Amino acid sequence: MMSHVSGVAESNVIAIEWKNDQLYLLDQRVLPQDVTWISHATVGEVVGSIKNMVVRGAPAIGIAAAYGVVLSARARYQADPMEWRKGFEEDMDTLANSRPTAVNLCWAIDRLSDVCALVEDGENPESALLAAAIEIHQSDLAANHAMGQIGAEVIKGESEAGICVMTHCNAGALATGGYGTALGVIRSAHALGMIKGVYADETRPWLQGARLTCWELQQDNVPVALNIDGAAAQLMATGQIGWVIVGADRITANGDVANKIGTYGLAVLAQYHGVKVMVVAPTTTIDMALFDGEDIPIEERDASEVTELMGAQIAPQGTDAINPVFDVTPANLIDVIVTERGAVRAPFEVGIAAIMSKQNLH
Ligand code: MRU
Repeated sequence: MMSHVSGVAESNVIAIEWKNDQLYLLDQRVLPQDVTWISHATVGEVVGSIKNMVVRGAPAIGIAAAYGVVLSARARYQADPMEWRKGFEEDMDTLANSRPTAVNLCWAIDRLSDVCALVEDGENPESALLAAAIEIHQSDLAANHAMGQIGAEVIKGESEAGICVMTHCNAGALATGGYGTALGVIRSAHALGMIKGVYADETRPWLQGARLTCWELQQDNVPVALNIDGAAAQLMATGQIGWVIVGADRITANGDVANKIGTYGLAVLAQYHGVKVMVVAPTTTIDMALFDGEDIPIEERDASEVTELMGAQIAPQGTDAINPVFDVTPANLIDVIVTERGAVRAPFEVGIAAIMSKQNLH
């Protein structure tokens, strides 16, 4: 893979670009110290970047995978225009298994597989697949803008102007096609004067909050203060938090939410302290095939992410560690789930079924 350094568009953080017939991803492993883009010319390179978290965040993983499908089809068709589908299917399996929890990954592959099914034998699939991948990318951005507006209206309807909110991990432009889910709502509500500042959980062990959320909010001049994950209870107890606002990697039909490890704990704390919890996610994150969170596959990553910090050993050599990187927040700890098709409240099972049967408005 070749890499080049590039700035970020003014007041507009982006992490995914298709140009010169290749996929470019902003390398999220090295932010904020280095702003480095990596080009991807093969599906194997895209699989590697999803696994090692060059790209991360459920919608961004789905978009990157969609472009990965295009790269696979190109190579397989060039190798054998009549029999390209067999190798392509193998690539789809590898891509689908690159990270297990974010359902957007399989959702995007399924959408592009539907497009493939319409391609005639011998016909080059690349342009039809690229059009579909670009559509997924653009719709995600549009969904984020819609969720920003809907979520900000919810906050306006229920809170005094000038509150502080807490977020966890990074559910921003870096994790999506742009603007962000949780950070999209925060951007919109800040622009309305509803939110005066954001507490960002550092999000051990990968530090998405410290490295990515703080950087991203600083780019757009949204006031942000970093706190260690263990400070959340104290900040809630002293009345400094109006809402906990987070994204999601997978939401089941009953409203259970898989998100970055630590989200469940925050929701328990929020209920105890009377703080409201908002989950912001596009309908592409809703998995109607699963009734509840029990069946969501929870990714476990290498123990070294816990025993080391940015490559430096912090626990004694040989220390055992467990590293589940997502948890499941039960629906009964959530006040509202904001999607691009509207805000859903308890009973979630009914509300989610209703929005999933609606057409997209954009
Ligand atoms: O391991 P990550 O960084 O991919 O986890 C990301 C999260 O948990 C996000 O909160 C979630 O994907 C929502 S992103 C809009």
